[in-house]
Amino acid sequence: MTDAPPATTPLVALKDIHKTFGAVSALRGVSIDVMPGETFALLGDNAAGKSTLMKVLTGVYQPDRGSIELDGKATAFPTPSASRDQGVEMVYQDFALADNLDVRTNIFLGREPQKNILGPLLRIIDRKKMESETKRVLERLDIPINPRLKVKRLSGGQRQAVAIGRALAFDARLIIMDEPTANLSVAKVDKLIEVTQRLKDLGIAVIIITHRLDEAFAVADRFAVMRQGQVVGRFRVGEVSEAQVAHLISHGTLDDYVDHGSGIPEDRRKIGSTSSMETVDAFSARGTTNGSDS
Ligand SMILES: Nc1ncnc2c1ncn2[C@@H]1O[C@H](COP(=O)(O)OP(=O)(O)O)[C@@H](O)[C@H]1O
Ligand SMILES: [Mg+2]
Repeated sequence: MTDAPPATTPLVALKDIHKTFGAVSALRGVSIDVMPGETFALLGDNAAGKSTLMKVLTGVYQPDRGSIELDGKATAFPTPSASRDQGVEMVYQDFALADNLDVRTNIFLGREPQKNILGPLLRIIDRKKMESETKRVLERLDIPINPRLKVKRLSGGQRQAVAIGRALAFDARLIIMDEPTANLSVAKVDKLIEVTQRLKDLGIAVIIITHRLDEAFAVADRFAVMRQGQVVGRFRVGEVSEAQVAHLISHGTLDDYVDHGSGIPEDRRKIGSTSSMETVDAFSARGTTNGSDS
């Protein structure tokens, strides 16, 4: 696995995705692609459209326009389970765990393995398998937790591991984390960074949505900045400074960015060189309609 040549076909590509809710244009032609095993950060202010885009990718919403490709082939995710079946797993902001149930039950919630007893007519939940699989995935994440512990006994970081373990147990190829550190302390953010790196070692692609730039810069190979339903910049880590990205998030452009001595040279404003799809010029993102009532 580690000696494989670099992949050239994205694991997943969202192309020209549009989505409106009544009068709100949540997505206005968004394209992103994620390579196998890549960690991709999706950045942007509140209401930029990040969660909506991920809900399109996980089959929660159907796009009004646009297409999805998996391994270079057109596909569709009409339901969340269709998306999951293709190896796309979502880890929710609140981790969506059932406090009163134990770790193994949470990992398999709604997808419990079954076994036959007394022939195929009588099937029961295979708790042994749940337990051994739970151990296996948590070991893969390097976070051993007793599978029989109730989730309410777990720390924030452990809860997160269970949520991610749930994705791993079903052979995720892409794990999406929407604001995973919103409820975590600094030490736990460090642990998340570790877990994310672990996922990379396991060859699993990650899309992480975060408002914390330090975190994005710590884990991501590439990232995209969204604003008002569009991508206004795409970068490989190292191409821009955190200050530039912060400016882009709040202004949607870098053309009025004042460089205080760090980051890329001033003449290098054309951004988006790392996209396999299209380039985005920071200048062209200007003048996007903002709150016009039509
Ligand atoms: N189900 C919905 N119904 C109506 N409006 C929605 C819905 N989901 C999202 N929106 C709107 O779409 C825009 C993008 O929201 P969202 O994708 O949640 O942004 P982000 O995750 O970047 O904060 C916002 O204006 C939000 O109010
Ligand atoms: Mg959101």
